[in-house]
Amino acid sequence: MNIMADPLQKFATNSLEQHWMPFSNNREFKNEPRLIVKSEGMRMWDHKGGEIIDGSSGLFNVAAGHGRREIADAVYAQMIQNDYTPHFSMGHPGSFALAAKLSQILPDPFNHVFFTNSGSESIDTALKMVMAYNRARGEAQRIRFVSRERAYHGVNIGGVSLSGMVKNRETFPVVMPNIVMMRHTWNADHRFERGQPENGVELANDLQRMCETYGGSTIAAVFVEPIAGSTGTLVPPMGYLQRIREICDEHGILLVFDEVITGFGRLGKPFAADAFGVTPDIMTMAKALTNGAIPMGAVAARDEIYDTVTNAAPANAIEFFHGYTYSAHPAACAAGLATLDIYERDGLFENAASLGDYFLDAIWSLKDLECIYDLRGYGLMAGVEVVHDGVPGRRGAELQKRLFWEGLHLKWTGDTAIVAPALIATRADVDEIVGKMRKVLETL
Ligand SMILES: Cc1ncc(COP(=O)(O)O)c(C=O)c1O
Repeated sequence: MNIMADPLQKFATNSLEQHWMPFSNNREFKNEPRLIVKSEGMRMWDHKGGEIIDGSSGLFNVAAGHGRREIADAVYAQMIQNDYTPHFSMGHPGSFALAAKLSQILPDPFNHVFFTNSGSESIDTALKMVMAYNRARGEAQRIRFVSRERAYHGVNIGGVSLSGMVKNRETFPVVMPNIVMMRHTWNADHRFERGQPENGVELANDLQRMCETYGGSTIAAVFVEPIAGSTGTLVPPMGYLQRIREICDEHGILLVFDEVITGFGRLGKPFAADAFGVTPDIMTMAKALTNGAIPMGAVAARDEIYDTVTNAAPANAIEFFHGYTYSAHPAACAAGLATLDIYERDGLFENAASLGDYFLDAIWSLKDLECIYDLRGYGLMAGVEVVHDGVPGRRGAELQKRLFWEGLHLKWTGDTAIVAPALIATRADVDEIVGKMRKVLETL
C-alpha cells in the first residue's frame, strides 16, 4: 500500500524535534518513533507497515472503531455548508440537534447540555456551573470541592486541582484552594475481584467526615469518576456511589460524575449513571462523543441547575459568563450527530453489553502469569496491573513499547494497562488482544 511507503523519509532527520509531545518521553520517542499512518476499524498501521490492533480504542474515545466514513462525510458536508459560526448569542442548527439527541440518551433530568472541546474543559465548565448554581440559589458560602485520591479529571488547572495522581500535580503546585480529597476505593482485598468489589462501601463515609469537619453547608460539589479510569480502572465497591449520593442529598451538595471515559456504552449502558443506578446532578463527557474524530466535550446539567442559573440573571443579560470560541463548533456537532447515529443504528451499546463477560473472562485468563499483580474490570474496561520492577512505572512504559511492536496498542498508566477495546470488537478481536498480551507478559 502506498501509505506504507516510509513517511519518515519525507521529513528531515531532526524534523520530529519541533513537536513538544504531550504526556510523552520526548527524547526516547524521537530516537525510536512510533507513528501511525492509517487506521480502520479495530486496526492501525505504523510507518513501517506493521499492523496494530487497538486494545484501548485510541485513548478510550474511538468507540465505534477507526475510519468511520459516515463521520468524515458529515464533517465534510458541514464544512462546505457552514464552517464556523460564533456561538455567543448566535447559533447554528447542529448544536441544538446534537444537544436534543444527547438528552434522549442521558438520564431523565438532564435536558441541558453545554459544549466544550475536551474533557478538561468539561471539568472546568462543571466547576463553574456549580459555582454559578450555588450563587444563584443563595448558597455562595459553598466554597469547598471534594475529589478523590487517584482521580483524573484532565489537565487544566481545575482538573489538576481535583487530581489525585501525584505526577499530574507535583510539578504544578499552584492550584485552586479549598479542595479536599476522599480516599480512593482500591485496597489489597479487592485484588482479582471482577466487577464491583463486595467490600469498601464505608469508604464513602469519607464524605460524611468532611461534612463533620468543614460543615456540609460549605461543600459545593463532589467530583467522582464512576470508575476511576486513568489510574488503571478502579471499580467502585458495591453501594459506594449510592452512599455518596445519599450524603450529598443530606447536605445539599452537588454530585458530579465525570463520565469522560465511562460515557457512551463503555459499561454496556449509555452512561455509568445507568450502569450503577445512581443519578448525579452534573455529568461531564468528551472522548467517544465524536468517536475521537473531532475534539469535543459536553457538560449536562439537571434541569433544576439550568433553570436556577438562567432565571437568576436579570432579563436581557447573559446568564452564564462562560464559553469557548469553539464551543459547539459546527464540524464537531456534525461529528457528534453522526457518531450518535452509528451507536444507535449499529446497537453498539448493546454490543458492549453482550461482549462484556467474554472480554472479562479473557482478561482473567491472564491470572496465572507470574508478573500479574492485579486484575480489575467492568464492562469493556479492564485494568491489568503487573508487578513493578523496583521503579514504579518503568515496566509499564517498556511494555507499552514492546506490545506496540508486537502489534498491540494499549494505554499504560504506571504499571497498569487499561484495556478498553472499541464497542465494535468481536470475540476474535478480544482473543487477539489478550493473546498478544500473554505472549509478551509471559516473558517477564
Ligand atoms: C475521567 C476523565 N476526565 C477528564 C479527562 C480529560 O479529558 P481530555 O484529555 O479530553 O481533556 C479524561 C481524559 O482521559 C478522563 O479520563
